[in-house]
Amino acid sequence: MDKKFLERVIDALRHGESLPAEWARFLFPPEKREAELVYDGKEREEEILADIMSVPLQPVSTFGLGTGWHNKLIFGDNLQAMKTLLQMKEAGELRNADGTSGVRLVYIDPPFATKKEFRGSHDEQAYQDRITGAAFLEFLRHRLVMLRELLSEDGSIYVHLDGKKAHYVKVLMDEVFGEQNFMNEIAWCYATGGASRDRFSRKHDTILFYAKNARQKLFNVQKEREYYDKPFFNEQKDEQGRYYADVIMKDYWRIPAVINVSKERTGYPTQKPELLLERIIRASSNEGDLVLDAFAGSGTTCIAAEKLSRRWIAVDCGKLSIYTIQKRLLHLSGALDGMRRQVGPAAFTLYNAGLYDFASLRKLPWQDWRFFALQLFGCKDEPHQIAGLQLDGKLKGSSVLVFNHDELAGKRIDEETVRDLHVAIGNQIGKRFFMIAPRGSFDFQQDYLDFDGVRYYALRIPYSIINELHTRSFTALEQPRDEGAINATVDAVGFDFIRPPRVAWLASARKTTGGTGREAVLRIRSFASTTRTHGVDVAGGLETFAMLMLDLDYDGEVFDLDKFYLANDLQRASWEVPIPVDSIGKQVMAVFIDIYGNESREIIPRNKFGLLSGGPARTVRNRRQHAA
Ligand SMILES: C[S@@+](CC[C@H](N)C(=O)[O-])C[C@H]1O[C@@H](n2cnc3c(N)ncnc32)[C@H](O)[C@@H]1O
Repeated sequence: MDKKFLERVIDALRHGESLPAEWARFLFPPEKREAELVYDGKEREEEILADIMSVPLQPVSTFGLGTGWHNKLIFGDNLQAMKTLLQMKEAGELRNADGTSGVRLVYIDPPFATKKEFRGSHDEQAYQDRITGAAFLEFLRHRLVMLRELLSEDGSIYVHLDGKKAHYVKVLMDEVFGEQNFMNEIAWCYATGGASRDRFSRKHDTILFYAKNARQKLFNVQKEREYYDKPFFNEQKDEQGRYYADVIMKDYWRIPAVINVSKERTGYPTQKPELLLERIIRASSNEGDLVLDAFAGSGTTCIAAEKLSRRWIAVDCGKLSIYTIQKRLLHLSGALDGMRRQVGPAAFTLYNAGLYDFASLRKLPWQDWRFFALQLFGCKDEPHQIAGLQLDGKLKGSSVLVFNHDELAGKRIDEETVRDLHVAIGNQIGKRFFMIAPRGSFDFQQDYLDFDGVRYYALRIPYSIINELHTRSFTALEQPRDEGAINATVDAVGFDFIRPPRVAWLASARKTTGGTGREAVLRIRSFASTTRTHGVDVAGGLETFAMLMLDLDYDGEVFDLDKFYLANDLQRASWEVPIPVDSIGKQVMAVFIDIYGNESREIIPRNKFGLLSGGPARTVRNRRQHAA
C-alpha cells in the first residue's frame, strides 16, 4: 500500500467519510486468490462466523418411532439454524455413515434475488437493482461460509442458480471454497415454459458443484444411456432394437421440470424434480450419510434422500414450506426398504429455531431449560463456582446464573436479591453479571441494576433484547402474502416467542353460484397480531395476515395441509374461502398465519358449516406416530 493512498484513507476516516468499496481490495488484499468480487457491504469471513447468533432447536412434533437419529425439519432462518448445527457438528452429533464428522452433501436452491418494488426514474431503478444485487450476493455468501464449515472434509456442495446470477456466485464460491475445488457447472435442461422470440429461449438452470477438498471428495460415478442409429464398437441393443451404450454421465442433464400435471407436483412454486436431486444424492453421498438442504422449499431433497436411504436436515423460513414438506413426507410412497418393501419416511422431528413456544418451554425439566436458556442468549455452557455459589455459564467473559425456578419455586428476584448477590460475590465477578429467568420471576422492570460499578443484567424469557448485548438489532421472520413473495430472500436475526394471532371467523354454507349444489364457506372477519420489533410491541390488523392453510379432514392428531390461500388473493375474494362440500371430512383444521410466522389453529366441526355430520370416508394415509 503506497504512502499517498494510506494518507487518503486516514484523511477520509478523520473526516468521518465512508470509504469507497473499491478500496477494500487494497486494504484487505486477497491472499492466494487471483480475483475477487468487490461490492458494498462485503464482510470479512471471520466477522461472519463470529457474528451469527445460534438459536436453539425446540422440538415441536416427532413423526415415526425409533431412538437415535431423527431427520430434522427446521423452521427458521437458515443462517442462525446453521450456526446451531455447527455447534452440533463440533459436539460430534453430525456424523455420516462411516463416522466422518459433518454433512456429506449440501444442495441449495436459494431464491434468485429479491423482487422489491421500486417506483422511480430509470437511473434510480438501475441503482436499486445493483444494491439488491449486492445484498443478495452477501446474503448468499454468509450462507456459503456456514455451509463450508458444516461439510465433512470429503463432502460436496451443489448450488442451484439461473443464468442471471450464476457468474457472480461462481466467483464467490471460488473465494469461499477455493477455485481448485470447483468440480462442475451442470446445466439442467428442460423444455417446458414459455418461448422467446427476441433471443434464444432460456431453457436451462445452472448448478455449481464444488468439493470441500477436490482430492478427498466422495464421488460415485454415474452412468447414462445413449442411443445410436448404427452399431459401433461393442454395442448392445435394447428390447426395442435400439443400439445403446451406458456411458459416463456428462455435465448437461435433460430432466423434465415439474409442471401442473406432474405426479410429484405439490403446488409449491419453484419445486424441483426428484430425479434431479436423486442424481446429485447418488453421486455425492452413500447410504446413511447426511444430506442438508438449507432452502428446502417443497422438500424435494428430503423426499429424494428418503428414497435413497440417506439421512437429511432441511431448513426453511416459510410455514408453507414446512407444512408442504410435512405432508409430502407423511404421504411418501415409493421408498423401499432393504427387502424392497414400501415404507413410510424414517422418523423425523419438526423443530422451531428462533420462534419459540414459551408455554411448552416452561414445562421442560430444569436441565433442559437451563441448556435452552444459555443457548438462547448465546452463553457458553460452563458451570463454575464463585464463593461457593454454583453458576451456569459465561457470556462475553462474564458469569451467568440461570435461575432455577423449579427448585426455588415461588422465590422472586427483586432488588434485594441482587443486592445480597452483590454482597456475596460482587468483588469477584468483574464489571458484569447475567441472570436468566422467566420474565415473571423478576420483580423489577429495568434491564439491569448497578451496585458499586458492577452491572447485573436481567435476561428475561420470553424476551429480552438488551441492545448493548447484541451486535445487531433483531428482525422478525417474514411470511409471504402473495405468490411472488414465496420465493423471496428472508434475512431474520434474533429470536421471538410465538404469539398466536387473534382471529374471528365465520363458517357457513350457501348455494354454489349459478349451480344447484351447495358449498361451505369460511370467512375471516377480523385478524389481530402483535410482534416485537426493535424491542417494542407492534400491533397489527388484517395487513399482518399472511395466509390460511386448511386440512379438510383433520384426524385430530396431525395437521395435513390440503389447501392454502395467500392474503392478497383472499382480500380480493372479500376474505371468503369457498370449499366444496364433499371435500370436507368430520372436521376441518384451519391454521391462520401472520407475516411473522405465528399461527393460530382452529378445529371446525363439519356441522359448524351447517352441513350434516358424517362426511366422506377419510383418506388413507401412511402409518405414523405423533408425539407432542
Ligand atoms: C427456490 S425455493 C426452494 C425450492 C426447492 N428446491 C424445491 O424443490 O421445492 C427457496 C426457498 O428458500 C426459502 N428461504 C428464503 N430465505 C431463507 C432463509 N433465510 N432461511 C431459510 N429459508 C429461506 C424460501 O422460503 C423458499 O422456500
